[in-house]
Amino acid sequence: MEIPDFSSMKLDSRPELIDFEGVSMTCYFTDNWEKVKNFQARPDDILIATYPKAGTTWVSYILDLLYFGNESPERQTSQPIYMRVPFLEMCFQGLPLGTELADTLPTSPRLIKTHLPVQLVPKSFWEQNSKVVYVARNAKDNAVSYFHFDRMNMGQPEPGDWNTFLQKFMDGRNVFGPWYDHVNGYWKKKQTYSNILYMFYEDMVEDTGREVARLCSFLGLSTSAAERERITKGVQFDAMKQNKMTNYSTLPVMDFKISPFMRKGKVGDWRNHFTVAQNEQFDEVYKQKMKNTTVKFRTEI
Ligand code: A3P
Repeated sequence: MEIPDFSSMKLDSRPELIDFEGVSMTCYFTDNWEKVKNFQARPDDILIATYPKAGTTWVSYILDLLYFGNESPERQTSQPIYMRVPFLEMCFQGLPLGTELADTLPTSPRLIKTHLPVQLVPKSFWEQNSKVVYVARNAKDNAVSYFHFDRMNMGQPEPGDWNTFLQKFMDGRNVFGPWYDHVNGYWKKKQTYSNILYMFYEDMVEDTGREVARLCSFLGLSTSAAERERITKGVQFDAMKQNKMTNYSTLPVMDFKISPFMRKGKVGDWRNHFTVAQNEQFDEVYKQKMKNTTVKFRTEI
C-alpha cells in the first residue's frame, strides 16, 4: 500500500469539543460517522480498543510483530504503525479516512485501532464475533499522559493548565468521553462477549513477556518462546522511542518540542503532577464514579 504523505495533513486550528451521542468528541472522529457506523468487520479482524493514552501504540506494535514480524521485514522499516494499524474513526483533512485505510488493508487478520467507547463501536464487530483487545490504564497516569498529549497535538482541543485539565478529566470532558465510562463499559461487555481480552498497562510494564504470552494464548498463536522473547525486547520503551516507525515523529501535527509522543512510559508518574489537594479530590470523585464496578487498577507497581 502507498504510504500517504502525512505532511499534507491540514489543521487550521485546534478543534472544539462537541457532544456526540452523549460523548465528548471532536469533528475529526465524527465527520465520517456514517461510514464508521456501517463499517463491515470480518470474523478474523482484531480490534484494538483503548481510551486514549492507555498503551494503544504499544499493544498495536506487539500485535503487528506477532502476526507479521517475520513476514515482510520492509513493513517494519517503511510503514509507520498508524498505517499498519489504521485508526478507524480518524477523519483528518488531507489524509485518507480511517475506514478507507481499514477497508484496503491487505493483511489477514486486519489490525484495527479504535478509541470509541463500547456503545459506539460499529455493531458488525460484535455480529462477526471479531476479537477485541482492550488495554486500560490507571486513571491518574492516564490523565497525566492525556494532558501532555493534548499540549503537543494540534489535532486535540486546548488542554489549559494541569489543574484545568484535571477538572475536565474528572468531569469527563475529554475527547472520547469520560475515562470512567470507557473502562467500565468494556469491562461490563466482557461479561456477555467472550472474545475480549481486557489488559492493563500496569501489567504490561510489570512483565511485558508475561502479557505477550497472554496475548498469544487469547489469539490462539503458537509463537515460540524464543520469538516471544525477541518481540518483548523489541517493544521496550527505549526501543520504541528510537524507532521512527513507532514514535510518531512522522506526524507533523505533533510538536515534540512541547512533549514527545513516547514521553515516559512509567507507572506512577502522576505523583510528579498531582498536588495533595488534587489527589484527595480525585480519589473522592473516583470512589463515586467507580462504586458499581469490580474492575481494579494499580496506580503503582
Ligand atoms: P506516557 O505519556 O505516560 O509516557 P497511546 O499509544 O495509547 O497513545 O499511549 C501512549 C502512552 O503509552 C505514553 O505514555 C507512552 O509513553 C506509553 N508507551 C508507549 N509505548 C510504551 C512502551 N513500550 N512501554 C511503556 N510505555 C509505553
